[in-house]
Amino acid sequence: MPRAVRLGVLVLPLLLAACGGDGGDGAASGSASASPGGGSSSSPGGGTSSTGTPLSLAAQVGQKVFFDKTLSGGQNMSCASCHDPAYAYGPPNSLAVQLGSDPTRSGLRAVPSLRYKEATPAYSDSASNPDGVTLSAPGGGFMWDGRADSLASQAALPLLNPVEMNNTSQAAVVTAVQKGSYAALFTQAFGASAFSDTAAAFASIGQALQAFQMEEPSFHPYSSKFDLYLGNKIGGTLTAAELRGLAVFNDTGNCFACHYSGANFNGTRGLMTDFTYQALGVPRNDNSIPGNPSPIPKNSDSSYFDLGLCGPERTDHTPSPAGSASAFCGLFKVPTLRNIASRTAFFHNGVLHSLQQVVHFYNTRDTHPEYWYPSTGGSGSPTANPGYALFTQTLPGATPQKFNDLPATYQGNVDEEVPMGTGKGGSNTLGSGTQPRLPGDTPAMTEQDISDLICFLNTLSDGYQAPATPPTSGTCVN
Ligand code: HEC
Ligand code: HEC
Repeated sequence: MPRAVRLGVLVLPLLLAACGGDGGDGAASGSASASPGGGSSSSPGGGTSSTGTPLSLAAQVGQKVFFDKTLSGGQNMSCASCHDPAYAYGPPNSLAVQLGSDPTRSGLRAVPSLRYKEATPAYSDSASNPDGVTLSAPGGGFMWDGRADSLASQAALPLLNPVEMNNTSQAAVVTAVQKGSYAALFTQAFGASAFSDTAAAFASIGQALQAFQMEEPSFHPYSSKFDLYLGNKIGGTLTAAELRGLAVFNDTGNCFACHYSGANFNGTRGLMTDFTYQALGVPRNDNSIPGNPSPIPKNSDSSYFDLGLCGPERTDHTPSPAGSASAFCGLFKVPTLRNIASRTAFFHNGVLHSLQQVVHFYNTRDTHPEYWYPSTGGSGSPTANPGYALFTQTLPGATPQKFNDLPATYQGNVDEEVPMGTGKGGSNTLGSGTQPRLPGDTPAMTEQDISDLICFLNTLSDGYQAPATPPTSGTCVN
């Protein structure tokens, strides 16, 4: 739905799901982002985290489970296969969607990073906004559509999904744990009879994965240059270009309105999301895009649409009757932008493959839709589109099929805040634009703004080490 009107009313922030899980601050653990092991190796071992801090017994089990390939139908895939610690627990490749344990099957959505999920509240149709100003709206929850309420309950989804880990039953997963090298650790953590009830044992596996993700510091290292900047710490001095980029983020580009960087309900800071859901109308990831490196196989079915909050993966907001109007259709979770530079597939359908493309998409979605959506009609000599565009050329008189991944009934749900819409962006007005920019209008950001903004986004990568001699020239310096 178009973003709730922001009124100057203070909404009392709710304290939600705020378990500890704090990875400590970046200065104390400068190398906390170091990978706790490659995709398949098990762990740093010995009951401790990657930084040597003790892990609870449940988290120690979770650490084993996370890297255990025997917990997939084909014994060839663990959580870490898709959520690779070396890629901020995101995907280790640029595929829009990953192959499953059954390699003839493909996923439906891009793999999110698992970093900075420790403060995510459960989903609600009317969640408080951390900015304390925006009216309550759909927010919270795990997955692109928020359908899992906790990290513990989320685990069942990949384990049992036929296009992911492809186990046929809870019992199959429990049996694999029982046969595994850490069965004794499991009973130590969850009780001598922990394996006797399959449903309870399966739930304990979820608890273990949650404990691991909450306790292991590499899931929330807070060790980026931006963290040093926020904490006013040595090494956290942003360059002139990065500071301009931060201003674009907060004002001209209005990224801040959704990728909220302020203090959160629970003491965290700079998570770069307000946990809400918005429809951006991102292009359909299919073979209509020339040379598309990674179309979603399921999209070859032209009657299939991934509508986020209203399904089909999520089933409690399905329009009834089918196809009728619903403000929930087309909305996806605002993802964190931390470690965004380590990704090479962007948005829920992975249709874009560079930050240049993403930021230009925001800037020109409405002023130059022919860059992003397939067009019909037109004739004559084509003009070349910029290198970042998905569609390389445009025929004079052609009509772009804007928002082609949404049935017409739901296209009105698409957000028109700045930078897409007109009006002023920024942390003071919180993005007052509501009218779409139109072809011929000036985009919100200049090329210099975009370059600076990307420099700023690069400061969100964990594991930052200040150089001994800071560079004196370069795109992201002056
Ligand atoms: C085949 C690739 C794959 C595997 C294996 C996999 N995941 Fe995921 N994971 C995904 C995708 C894709 C999503 C987004 C799904 C959606 O939105 O419907 C996701 C989402 C998540 C989320 C939600 C993150 C967020 O931003 O809300 C968590 C947590 C998660 N996975 C944990 C796990 C755990 C734990 C395991 C192992 C039990 C696992 N995943 C195995 C692909 C995978
Ligand atoms: C109206 C709210 C809103 C505004 C304003 C906004 N975003 Fe987003 N952003 C989203 C949503 C929602 C998604 C996920 C959309 C989807 O996948 O369909 C997203 C996704 C992204 C992604 C992809 C992340 C990933 O893991 O795939 C990047 C990068 C991004 N935004 C950067 C920006 C930047 C930079 C700006 C400012 C120029 C900005 N956003 C402004 C809501 C917003």
